[in-house]
Amino acid sequence: MNLIIFGPPGAGKGTQADFIVDKFNLYQLSTGEVLRNEIKNKTELGKEISSIINSGSLVSDDIVKKLVENYISNNKYKNRLIFDGYPRNLNQVQTLNELLTKYAQKIDLVLKLSVSLETITKRILERKTIEKRSDDSEELAVKRYKTYEKSTEPVIEYYKKLNLLKVIDGERTIDQINKEISDIITLI
Ligand code: AP5
Ligand code: MG
Repeated sequence: MNLIIFGPPGAGKGTQADFIVDKFNLYQLSTGEVLRNEIKNKTELGKEISSIINSGSLVSDDIVKKLVENYISNNKYKNRLIFDGYPRNLNQVQTLNELLTKYAQKIDLVLKLSVSLETITKRILERKTIEKRSDDSEELAVKRYKTYEKSTEPVIEYYKKLNLLKVIDGERTIDQINKEISDIITLI
C-alpha cells in the first residue's frame, strides 16, 4: 500500500507518519526532511535550496522529482511508501502519476489532517523550542500556510474526485488521531 498524508504546516503529518511506519511496516518519505538533511549536510543542493525553504516557498519541482524518484524506483520501498508533504502542487501530481506508472505502483489512500491556522501556529512555536527548525517562526508559519492553501489544496481536491480522500480532524490528541488512521488503514 502507498499512501499520502496532507495537512498544513505543523498539522502533525510527520507525527502520524512515524506512527503508521511502525504499526504497518511502511517507509516515510518526507520531502521536507530530505531537503533539510541536504541543508544540514551542506551539500551543493542544500546551499541552493536553503533560502527558498527559509522563505516558506516551494523548492523547484525538478529538484523534488529527483528525490522522489530515488524512493519510488527502490524495490525496498515498493508499495510501502507514505508520502509526507508530496505532491504539493498540481505539477507534482502529474509527475507522481508518471513515476507511479513507470514503476508499476499506485496510490491506495490519501489522508488529510484538518487543522486551523491558530492551532498550527501554536504547535509550530512549541516545536521551535525543541527542534530549532529555521522555518518555524510565526511569520513563516503563516507564509507556509498560505502556500499550502494556494498550491496544495487543489491537489487535495484532485484526490477527493478520485474517491481516495479521508479527512481527519487533526485538532484532537495525537492518540485519538492515531486510532482513527489505524482503523482506516486496517480496512483498506
Ligand atoms: P515540510 O517539512 O513538509 O513542512 P510542513 O508541510 O510545513 O510541515 P511540518 O513538517 O512543519 O509539520 P507536520 O505536519 O509534519 O507536523 P509535525 O508532525 O511535525 O516542508 C518544509 C519545506 O520544505 C516547505 O516549506 C518547502 O519549502 C519544502 N518542501 C517540502 N516538500 C516539498 C515539495 N513536495 N515541493 C517543494 N518544496 C517542498 O507536528 C508539529 C508539532 O506539533 C510537533 O511538535 C508535534 O509534536 C506536535 N503535534 C503533532 N500532532 C499533534 C496533536 N494532535 N496535538 C498536539 N500537538 C501535536
Ligand atoms: Mg513534517
